[in-house]
Amino acid sequence: MSTDDTTTETDASTSNCGAASTTDSSSESKCGASSSTDSSSSSCGASESTEEKVGSTADDFDADPGKLTAVGLGPGQPKGMTERAKGALADAEHIVGYTTYIDLIPDDITDDAEAIYDTPMCGEVSRTEEAIDRALAGNDVAIVGSGDPNVYALAGLALEIVESKGATASALDFEVVPGVPAAQSCGARLGAPLVNDSVSVSLSDHLTPMPEIESRLHAVAGEGFTISIYNPWSRKRRENFQKACEILLAHRDADTPVGIVHGAGREDEEVELTTLGELESYGETDLVDMTTTVVVGNEDTYVFDDRMVTPRGYETKYDY
Ligand SMILES: C[S@@+](CC[C@H](N)C(=O)[O-])C[C@H]1O[C@@H](n2cnc3c(N)ncnc32)[C@H](O)[C@@H]1O
Repeated sequence: MSTDDTTTETDASTSNCGAASTTDSSSESKCGASSSTDSSSSSCGASESTEEKVGSTADDFDADPGKLTAVGLGPGQPKGMTERAKGALADAEHIVGYTTYIDLIPDDITDDAEAIYDTPMCGEVSRTEEAIDRALAGNDVAIVGSGDPNVYALAGLALEIVESKGATASALDFEVVPGVPAAQSCGARLGAPLVNDSVSVSLSDHLTPMPEIESRLHAVAGEGFTISIYNPWSRKRRENFQKACEILLAHRDADTPVGIVHGAGREDEEVELTTLGELESYGETDLVDMTTTVVVGNEDTYVFDDRMVTPRGYETKYDY
């Protein structure tokens, strides 16, 4: 079932904790958690407060808990998804996720699920709580995200909420099914930029204040890591991208190779090789947005035949 179908089949009026064949695209919890969950004011903007609160506790559920699995979908298209991820989704009775991510799941899997709960961007606390409540109510639930659940994603939040509800990860048989993270998908499209020590930095100040992000960038740029920049740009915080470019340029030469990958593994994939000196000028183009990862080379990174290469150091020991 595609999300186009899910919108037409939305049924927000019935209880869905154990619902069969019901697709629910509403942001209201159906498992007793909605009364104290307020995600409507959250827009993921840095300046807006998020008032999402965890509502029901483990004691509110009588059923034997089902299984909760955090599944990483990889970069985008089904062929980028692991067999294990597909199997975990096929085994799940309920699949929960951000609408864009639900759209990435093959139709034959969503068609077979008993229920799909998808909500628009943000509201990640209430969406994760919904997944947990559905599992506590006895359903086998998969909560999905792009890339890997451990990379700026919901695996940690799920465990934190399970704990705050007085439940246990063991009771829910909680499992993380890894997916290919954006840095690796994008690195592959660029050649071999991540072969030596590398780190990821997110420019989203939704949860981490910008001064903290700036100091982390200074630290990693100064240490010479290859850097994968997640969440590089959004209209609400275009200055974060500018600031990041300034910080990187304070530590690295303007001709340092930079790879920009938009929508790796998706239909709108675009790849651009540029330099650190030029990077800021891409901030106002369609290439750099919330589905873009920017890979900044280290001092040894070079471009060979349109591919970024970061030597691992073999050349210091071997002749070739
Ligand atoms: C909230 S993070 C999620 C990361 C994800 N869990 C992972 O492992 O890649 C979202 C960011 O991941 C990056 N991203 C996700 N999918 C991408 C793709 N297909 N191509 C390029 N970057 C992507 C972008 O930087 C985006 O802003």
